[in-house]
Amino acid sequence: MTRTVYVNGDYVPESEAMVSVFDRGFLFADGVYEVTSVLDGKLVDFDGHAVRLERSLSELGMGHPITKDDLLAAHRELVRLNDITDGLVYLQITRGSDGDRDFVYPAADTPQTVVMFTQNKPGLADAPAARTGIKVISIEDQRWARRDIKTVQLLYPSMAKMAAKAAGCDDAWMIEDGHVTEGSSNNAYIVKGNKIITRQLSNDILHGITRAAVLRFAKEAQMEVEERLFTIEEAKQADEAFVTSASTFVMPVVEIDGATIGTGAPGKIAPRLREIYLDESRKAAI
Ligand code: PDD
Repeated sequence: MTRTVYVNGDYVPESEAMVSVFDRGFLFADGVYEVTSVLDGKLVDFDGHAVRLERSLSELGMGHPITKDDLLAAHRELVRLNDITDGLVYLQITRGSDGDRDFVYPAADTPQTVVMFTQNKPGLADAPAARTGIKVISIEDQRWARRDIKTVQLLYPSMAKMAAKAAGCDDAWMIEDGHVTEGSSNNAYIVKGNKIITRQLSNDILHGITRAAVLRFAKEAQMEVEERLFTIEEAKQADEAFVTSASTFVMPVVEIDGATIGTGAPGKIAPRLREIYLDESRKAAI
């Protein structure tokens, strides 16, 4: 089955989808994106992603070319057309193109580019890695200073992921001024004596939609949560570690820079949070 993708209001086979070579997303990484997971054919936390998208667009002075209702309808239509039970919907909005390359933004009425596509991931919620845990390396955080905006400038996170792969690991935790910021494409947490510790929100990290939900569920389950800076040394001494994102949900981390975390297997808290998150998300999915 060929994938149907969304381009500026049209649903087209992926081989016929076209965007200008002058698109500012392509030339300047002048675009923002969202990734929403699909479980049982329904969208997880669509509202959270839509709200963050609006914020990303506003922070970059971009227009809002699609209403929230139309965005939801397009997500659902793509899920239906591509017969997705478990998977992801990727959405990207760029500042568009006025047909040339110029650092100066094009006129405000220049049509923006809106692209969406699905990724079919059968068994997404049942990833084997969630049972074994993943291994991470640490790497300096060399991204720009507005990581709260979900832009498509993902070269450094890709480099971090490649460095992790080269070291025989799954992912990288990025470090700034001695403290962990976040994972290459996820938020980072440690657990010490039943307390869940994660970096506080600021422009230094993406305000994860999964993070917000997981911290809410943790508090509702009477778990202790502390939002503060932590170092990689503290992380290596932690009882547990984990990451969260729309594509991995809650994923235990069992090794950091070669140091075993806890027993080297997922502990109690991360798997429990994963279970709660998946249960609640399935219930609330639309
Ligand atoms: N990444 N931090 C970074 C740097 C991210 O790229 C992501 C998401 C997150 C987690 O955010 P959320 O819980 O809203 O997915 C944190 C997506 C999944 C991606 O780039 O594929």
